[in-house]
Amino acid sequence: MAFLNWTESLSVKINSIDEQHKKLIELINGFYEQVSHRTNDENISILLKGMKDYTQMHFDYEEKYMKQFNYPDYPSHKKEHDFFISKVAEVEEKVKKGKVVLSFEITSFLKDWIKNHIQGSDKKYTAFFIKNGIK
Ligand SMILES: [Fe+2]
Repeated sequence: MAFLNWTESLSVKINSIDEQHKKLIELINGFYEQVSHRTNDENISILLKGMKDYTQMHFDYEEKYMKQFNYPDYPSHKKEHDFFISKVAEVEEKVKKGKVVLSFEITSFLKDWIKNHIQGSDKKYTAFFIKNGIK
């Protein structure tokens, strides 16, 4: 079974964003898989970079609409995004320097953060985004 499954409980009711969240979950599952099989650091670095890049693209997508339509929770939402990116970048740096033994703790952090962020902060924008015609 996958480490984290996308289910309706993770839907923000906006198709384009649900699709991006699914992809993100796929990346986290792939990362978990590699860590479980103790792949080498080079592979892990590539995966982390891929995850960071995709997440950044996804966050930019959400933030673009938040700014465009003056979403009131934009500042706090952006802070959450920035925290996640800095955390992934930090792990990436440590792996590059050979400083970190990748553990369940890191994969759990990714999983829990994304799940809590979608179910907590992301779901709050559903009505606002729909009202502004985002699909
Ligand atoms: Fe978000």
